[in-house]
Amino acid sequence: MSVSRGGFSSRLGFIMAAAGSAVGLGNIWGFPTQTASNGGAAFVLVYLVLAFFLAYPAFMAELLIGRYGQANAVTSMQKIARNPWQKRFGFAVGFGGIICAALILSFYAIIAGWMMSYAVEPLARLVGLANQADWMVMHSIPRNIFFTATFVGLTIIIIRRGVEQGIEKWSKRLMPMLIALLVLLILYVFTLDGAQAGFAAYLNPDISRVLDPELLISALGQAFFSLSLGTSVMIIYGSYIAKKENLVSLGAQVTLIDVSIAFLAGLLIIPAMYVAQAQGVSIFAEDGSLISGSSLVFTVLPALFANMGAAGLFVAFGFFVLMSIAALTSSISMLEGPVSFAVERHKLARKKATTYIGLVILMLSIVIVLNLSWMLDFVAILSTQYGQPLIAMFCCIFVGWIWHRNDILAEIKQGHLNVENSFFWKIWPWYVKFVCPTAIALVFIHSL
Ligand code: PHE
Repeated sequence: MSVSRGGFSSRLGFIMAAAGSAVGLGNIWGFPTQTASNGGAAFVLVYLVLAFFLAYPAFMAELLIGRYGQANAVTSMQKIARNPWQKRFGFAVGFGGIICAALILSFYAIIAGWMMSYAVEPLARLVGLANQADWMVMHSIPRNIFFTATFVGLTIIIIRRGVEQGIEKWSKRLMPMLIALLVLLILYVFTLDGAQAGFAAYLNPDISRVLDPELLISALGQAFFSLSLGTSVMIIYGSYIAKKENLVSLGAQVTLIDVSIAFLAGLLIIPAMYVAQAQGVSIFAEDGSLISGSSLVFTVLPALFANMGAAGLFVAFGFFVLMSIAALTSSISMLEGPVSFAVERHKLARKKATTYIGLVILMLSIVIVLNLSWMLDFVAILSTQYGQPLIAMFCCIFVGWIWHRNDILAEIKQGHLNVENSFFWKIWPWYVKFVCPTAIALVFIHSL
């Protein structure tokens, strides 16, 4: 690790930061709602298989590119390339990931802003500021802009401080808080009437749906989004890991944490929906399907919290703080991709680069806020359903077909002395060359 560009100071620092990136609104909101609308545990099963057999190998490809290159996504890709064509390809893939991260941040910050506004609302009510509290939970352009800007501002403040003092320090503080809040909320919801039905709905698989193409596509998209693939994030985080660390095991630990937290979030959200139903809140949309997406988080759950009286204010606060924390540890990773590129390729000072890039992204968010009805979905679909799988696929192709096998093996071997006997060593280089790109392409083509 070169001293001048910084890096994670410890194994735990990396795990918290990478898990912080991976665990976000995708886990706590996306995963449970997708599970609820896709046959319960059938979706969970498919998701687990895809996360470990497709997303994890692709995740390792990105981490290895970064750790080998010890640089931002573009430079790292280009270090692997050996001729001008490959360099151009490397540039396109690395830069594509950076743009994808910026696009995701531009809409993610709006949703995270809503989470923050819903977290502050119960506090305002508690101190008697009823009008202000109403304003916070009513859709309006000023409210959206205010909270989006606040959220992007927090992201900028952390990233300006750099890897160790910013990303690592804050991930290490926020991730344990997130886990504690999640567990407390699960235990609380568990005690309420109706929760049992929710557990049953979550944990009984509708096996007939396991091969349903729509379910497969949703599960793959969810797994890629959740591990932050195809966005340059894991390349840059990989570049901050010391050469003495065992990357294969670190990557597996992060995947495990990511999947476990998604699973835990399901134990919270789905029972909470059924508790709401037991209290007379409708949890079905007009077409008979379960309510999901924003109506679930911003209508059903607040209705449930409101029924809890004074305790509900605390629960609502806890829940939306949980969401905001999850979003923040993800958003910092999205901003780090573009910032590290600007700093290393264009020799900008880190603080300046962070502020400029953060403000440009905020501008884009404001444009989205002004055209919310179509633009939010448009940017989200473009970046997460097209950008992420395609770029992740190109990363696998890059590793499998351009990177020399011996160089890959040498990089895997760093910090992992007995690797020659491992399953990973024998299978992965071949797997990432043939299986990952083909499987991603198949699912992608299918989804078109
Ligand atoms: N993984 C994050 C989540 O689950 C989202 C994310 C996507 C973060 C892309 C970084 C890059 O919410």
